[in-house]
Formats: sequence, C-alpha cells, structure tokens
Amino acid sequence: MASQCYAVGSKTLVWRRTQGLTLADETPILVLGIETTCDETAAAVIERGGDGQGRILSNIVRSQIEEHAPFGGVVPEIAARAHVDLLDGIVATAMKDAGVTFSQLAGVAAAAGPGLIGGVIVGLTTAKAIALVHDTPLLAVNHLEAHALTPRLTNALAFPYCLFLASGGHTQIVAVLGVGKYVRLGTTVDDALGEAFDKVAKMLGLPYPGGPQVERAAVQGDAARFNFPRPMLGRPDANFSLSGLKTAVRNEASRMTPLEPQDINDLCAGFQVAVLDSIADRLNVGLRLFTEQFGPPTALVAAGGVAANQAIRGALREVAGHARTELVIPPPALCTDNGAMIAWAGAERLALGLTDVLDAPPRARWRLDENIEVPANLANTRASF
Ligand code: KG4
Ligand code: ZN
Repeated sequence: MASQCYAVGSKTLVWRRTQGLTLADETPILVLGIETTCDETAAAVIERGGDGQGRILSNIVRSQIEEHAPFGGVVPEIAARAHVDLLDGIVATAMKDAGVTFSQLAGVAAAAGPGLIGGVIVGLTTAKAIALVHDTPLLAVNHLEAHALTPRLTNALAFPYCLFLASGGHTQIVAVLGVGKYVRLGTTVDDALGEAFDKVAKMLGLPYPGGPQVERAAVQGDAARFNFPRPMLGRPDANFSLSGLKTAVRNEASRMTPLEPQDINDLCAGFQVAVLDSIADRLNVGLRLFTEQFGPPTALVAAGGVAANQAIRGALREVAGHARTELVIPPPALCTDNGAMIAWAGAERLALGLTDVLDAPPRARWRLDENIEVPANLANTRASF
C-alpha cells in the first residue's frame, strides 16, 4: 500500500491512501478503538472476520463518575483533563489484554464527535499520533454511528433495522439502512431522556448519575399518585420532548416541600410511567414511519445508558411485540459508551475502504444523516437541530 506525503498548513503529514481500498474478503482485520466523547475514557481492540463476524479481544472502560459526582453532572473541563491523564494507560492496557502490537493493526479508530470537544480532541489526537507513527489508516468515527452499528458486532444483525438510542446526550429513533446510511426518524426537541432522569434525580436530592437512582426509587413508589403529562402523545411525527414533564415534576416537588422519602418514590414512579408512555407512543410512530418508507425492519435495537432501565426494557418488549419485530438490546457494557463500539464501526468502515485523512476535524456536533438525502415525506419529521 503506497504512503503519501502532503502539506497541511506548516506541517507535513504522512498518511496511507486507503480510500477505495477493498480488503480481501477472507482477511480478518484488527482495529483499535478509542472513546472520549463524554465521561468514559475507553479503548478496545476488536477483530472483524472476512465473513463480517466480530470478536472483542479487549475492552477497557474507565468511568469518571467519581470525578463528576460532587458537581451533580459532567464538567467538560474536568472530563478533558481526566482523558489526558488516563488515555495512554488505557490504550496500553487494551493492546496488552488483546495480545497484539500496533504493527498488527489494520486501522485505529477514534470517536471524532459528537461530544464534549475537549475530550474529543484528546481521543482523536491520540489516534492520529498512533496512525502516523505506525503508518496505519485513521478512522474518525461518528459516536452515534458506533452505537448504531453495535448490534452487528453482538448479534450479526442484518440491515435495515430501527435504532432507539437513549443516553445522557442523545434521544433518537434512527433507520439504520447500511454502513454510512442512516435516516433520523425522530429526535428530542429539548432534553435527552438520560438528561431528564438526571435532572429529576437532582431536583429530588438523589445523587448523580440519576437514572439508576430514579429507577430504584420508582420501584417503591405509587405511579398513580400524580398524573404527569405524557409529552408528544399522539403526534404524527416521532420526536420526543422531556422538558415539560421535567417542569411538572419540579412544580409538584416544590409544592410539596419538604419531601418525605415516600414522596420522592412516588414522584419518581409518576415521572417514569409518563416516560414509558411517551417512549411507547413515539416508537410506535417511529416504527410505522420506518415500515412505510423502508419496509419492515429486521429488529428494534435499543442502545445508550437509558436502555439499562428495566421498566423501559419492558415497554420496548411490548412495542416490538406490537410491531411483530425482534427486540435486540446489546449487553449493558456495550449499550453504554465503550471503545469496542468505536473499533467495530471503524472496522465496518475500513472493510468498505472508508478511511480518513490525518486532519479529520474533531466535531462537537455531528448529525448522523447529514450526508444522506432524506425522503421528502420524512423531511418534516425531524427537529430542526
Ligand atoms: O450511554 P451513557 O452511559 O452515556 C452517555 O450519556 O453517553 O448514558 C448515561 C445516561 C445517564 O443520563 C444516566 O442517568 C442514564 O443514562 N441511565 C439511566 C439508567 N442507567 C443509566 N436512565 C434511566 N434508568 C437507568 N437505569
Ligand atoms: Zn453514547
């Protein structure tokens, strides 16, 4: 494979020209993946066989929850500094656990966004340095694409499928049609689902991260005590909105202050059941839009930290049953942010010859479907950002 030199500004970068490269079908490839877009510092090595089957050789995730917990949420500056401190060691451990050397890698992938820009720069720059030193292709992966492709690593799932991505930063329903082919069917017009859980937890005095705390409290609570609004119910588009519900919980909590433990449990139960109704309604619409446009999906796939919630998993089972489609939820460690999903997305792209140049930019915002022509009848189903 030929190497090439070219000038960018005052620097001369060396990169391998792999755009358009078709890897021999039977060749298994090894890819290192780096994730630093939020508060997890992670690295992993995966193998992708010529038959498209994946294998995780190592997967190291260091959560920064302890660093951020005193502030009740992720502090971008603390996150970026922690990534700087931790990443080199985590990459070294991932390589050692996998038992491979840099020279054996077919590529190095990093999440180039969307996310907190300081962290993204740390991960992407590290990947660029490895790519440069070891003359290996760089894969600047969209973090959302990595979530979207994970079920092909865990379940060898065929396209097209419907992804429900619900994390602290994202709430989206996405038609996954192929590698690099995504149509966003719905998104949140305000808060992300995980963010709403975290904010409700904070206003009720529960520690960060709030999702698991709210779920635990809700189990002890009476969901019928409050009748909170069900956002967006019955709307023909597949978008979400959480801020009205969050405000309703806040108003009720301030009206009742001081709160007894049972009040907190009941507020959490009332909030969670409203979320369940909203998710079911929005996904019913999303799956209908999917089928009208692309035919039946091979599965409904859930990813993101919120998919760890047992009550939400129950609602997803019902939605999938109603739509007569399979429900696929990757194991929790691969639903939440990790390096294996970045490595896998990189490997899927590399197998198609889709590599990136060494001046690939880090991106705070990066829509999954920005390069795809959205079918006209779906154009008004998406929020404006
Ligand atoms: O995917 P993730 O680990 O990180 C990113 O946000 O990228 O998701 C974390 C989010 C947090 O907002 C957290 O509160 C939420 O997922 N979460 C939950 C649960 N576990 C985590 N939300 C509801 N119920 C849970 N059991
Ligand atoms: Zn994520």
